[in-house]
Parts: sequence; structure tokens; C-alpha cells
Amino acid sequence: MDDRFGPTLVGAFLDDRLVGVALVGPAQEYSAALAATCRGVWPSRLLDDALYLVGTEIAETPGIAVVPDHRAEGIGLRLKRYCDLWAAQHGAYLMFSRPTNKAACRLNEKAGHKVLEGDVSFVTQIVDAQDRPLTGVVRIDPACDGSFQAFRQLTVADGLMWRFRVGQYPAVSQVDGTGDDHAVRIDPGHIAWYEWDRSGLVRSVLAPAPRLEHDVSMGLRRVSMES
Ligand SMILES: CC(C)(COP(=O)(O)OP(=O)(O)OC[C@H]1O[C@@H](n2cnc3c(N)ncnc32)[C@H](O)[C@@H]1OP(=O)(O)O)[C@@H](O)C(=O)NCCC(=O)NCCS
Repeated sequence: MDDRFGPTLVGAFLDDRLVGVALVGPAQEYSAALAATCRGVWPSRLLDDALYLVGTEIAETPGIAVVPDHRAEGIGLRLKRYCDLWAAQHGAYLMFSRPTNKAACRLNEKAGHKVLEGDVSFVTQIVDAQDRPLTGVVRIDPACDGSFQAFRQLTVADGLMWRFRVGQYPAVSQVDGTGDDHAVRIDPGHIAWYEWDRSGLVRSVLAPAPRLEHDVSMGLRRVSMES
């Protein structure tokens, strides 16, 4: 392990035996989805800036596992918390993950993450240097692909930290007639934004996104993480 904010494998050991692992690093899956859906739609300079911010301020934990004979002993939770701390110490503002089963969802909740219910949309918003919000929407449908969306703010917003927001929106499945099968129009008044305060509480607030009329809204495709 080194000091860089790059893909990092974390191991949990009991008496020198490896009993759990987690992978943590910059949010490559989200980054790839953003690049795939926004290239050619957002001005390239804007997209490059957004990708840079994502690569430095959003983390993900794409995998976590504990050996079967040591499950339900708190090892998974310690790994998860370690990943969050590691990411925060490397400057990440948000952590994303995609739990695929009940145990992993509960583990995320125990670690203070919000796990979206199935059949809603996950909303991410990046505010660029000119204060323009860029919003991405992806439908969460565990019945279809078996995974949920979990996220957590790792540090409390201050100064520069307002550049990302996460929230949920009713399920979007309908193309709005633009001809682009990723594009959707969303009503900002129905976005529930989530934020964490210093006590670690997650609050959801229904609020219109600022200046969303200038927004480019689209669904983010899910793509596999690069190895
Ligand atoms: C998910 C996994 C990593 C959890 O690791 P773990 O060490 O067993 O979890 P912990 O003991 O730290 O438990 C943390 C919390 O998760 C919840 N949890 C763990 N296993 C659970 C289960 N089988 N069912 C429901 N909740 C469960 C519990 O609420 C627990 O909190 P509690 O002890 O206060 O009840 C482990 O079950 C695992 O390796 N599963 C197979 C791989 C996997 O599915 N990885 C996640 C893919 S996204």
C-alpha cells in the first residue's frame, strides 16, 4: 500500500491468516460511465474537468469479502470502515459502492451509508467552476442486475466541497423522445438530496436543484470496472 489515491487492496488478518479483503480506490466505474455517456454531449473541457474531479474526490469500494468461517464477527464492518477512512484520508469526498446481497446492504448501512431502495434512480450532480450543475441519473433495478446503490459522504462539506451532490429520484425508464437512449428529463423538484452532518446523520431533503434549466441530464450506463 502506498500514499497514492489509486486502486488499493486492503487485507484483514487473524493470526497471520488472511480472512478478509476489500478493494478501494477512485470511482473508476462511475468515471467510466460518466465518460461513456457524456462524451460528445458535454463540452470536452467541461467533461475533462468533471472527470478530474471525480478521479480525485469520489471513491468506490468495488469488492469486499470475508472468508465464510469468519463471517458475522465484525470483520466486514471493520474493512468497510477502514476503506471509508482510507478514502477520506486520501481526499475523497464521497464513497460509492454496489452491494449485491442483503448482508452487504446491511453492512453498508451499519457503516453509515445510504443504500437506495430498488426501483429508484440514483442522481449525482457535479457543479462546475462556473456554478453550472451537471446531473447524471441512473436507474437502480436490483431485480434486473442484482445490485443496489450505496453511497456516503466521507467528509463534511465546506468551502470547495459543494461540488458534488448525491440523491435519488423516482425510477426513470422512459426516454423523453430525444433519440438518445440514455437521455432523460428530470423534474428537479422531485430529487431527494442526501447529506451528512458532523454527527454522521444522513438527511434527505427534497429541493430543487439550482439552475437546473441549464442542465444536461442523462442516464449513466453501468459499465464494468477496468481491471
Ligand atoms: C458481506 C460480508 C463481507 C459481510 O462481512 P461480515 O464480516 O460477515 O460482516 P460483519 O460481521 O462485519 O457484519 C456487519 C453487519 O452486516 C450485517 N450482516 C452481516 N452478515 C449478514 C447476513 N448474512 N445477513 C444479514 N445481515 C448481515 C449485520 O447487520 C452486521 O451487523 P450486526 O453484527 O450488528 O448485526 C460477508 O458476508 C461476505 O464476505 N459475503 C460474501 C461476499 C459478498 O457478498 N461481498 C459483498 C458483495 S457486494
